[in-house]
Amino acid sequence: MRKKIVAGNWKMNMDLPDGLKFAESLNEYFKAKPSKAEVILCTPFIHLAGVSQIVSTGRIACGAQNCASEPGGAYTGEVSPLMIRSTGAEYVIIGHSERRTYYHENDGLLNKKTRLALENGLKAIFCCGEVQKERESGIHREVVRKQLEDGLFNLSEVDFSKVVIAYEPVWAIGTGLTATPEQAQEMHKFIRDLVRERYGKDCAEELSILYGGSCKPSNAGEIFSKPDVDGGLIGGASLKKEDFCAIVEAF
Ligand code: PGA
Repeated sequence: MRKKIVAGNWKMNMDLPDGLKFAESLNEYFKAKPSKAEVILCTPFIHLAGVSQIVSTGRIACGAQNCASEPGGAYTGEVSPLMIRSTGAEYVIIGHSERRTYYHENDGLLNKKTRLALENGLKAIFCCGEVQKERESGIHREVVRKQLEDGLFNLSEVDFSKVVIAYEPVWAIGTGLTATPEQAQEMHKFIRDLVRERYGKDCAEELSILYGGSCKPSNAGEIFSKPDVDGGLIGGASLKKEDFCAIVEAF
């Protein structure tokens, strides 16, 4: 059976002491109450080494929210996958819509980042999803297909098995609008079918596909109950302990 995952995306929130305190309290919680889903905390770079030390292996994993597309050298301000891995982090989010929009990251660059991340022992949480206009004009499937084909589908089968896909309709991120469970299921099934065509049945069945976009305790249960939804990538609600724990427990 494929892995169920709930990943918190802290985005650019919390200073170092607050982030460490928060990680500690989540760790205490999940140590006492092991969850059915794998819990991942995707923190800002500065928190990674500290949070990795705090969380108990097997209960909570850590991830970065971005990585460099080059392995090392004179790239001021960048953080390489190797550096991320050396903190103990296991995951990296790649292609979040905020990176695509504000930092103009395109599919070619995201493909480069993904391959470098995998080469350095990280697992990639690769994000895809359409903006509102694309959904309204009915081209959302084509948009997502292109993001996956150009961003991921040149990976080998072995590399692809280290990828998690997050479907995040951009119109639902941080807006309070959520895709209906049916809309999420429809897109997740579409994505799994594409993966089946490209990598075969086993790969498609093993792939965890997470939903992201205004996921909260009140809607997580219904969304997660859909057969092709294997968990969530949680933004706003991952910053509140009660909400995040309730979402993890929605399985
Ligand atoms: P949100 O963000 O849960 O605040 O909508 C999700 C995300 O950006 O990953």
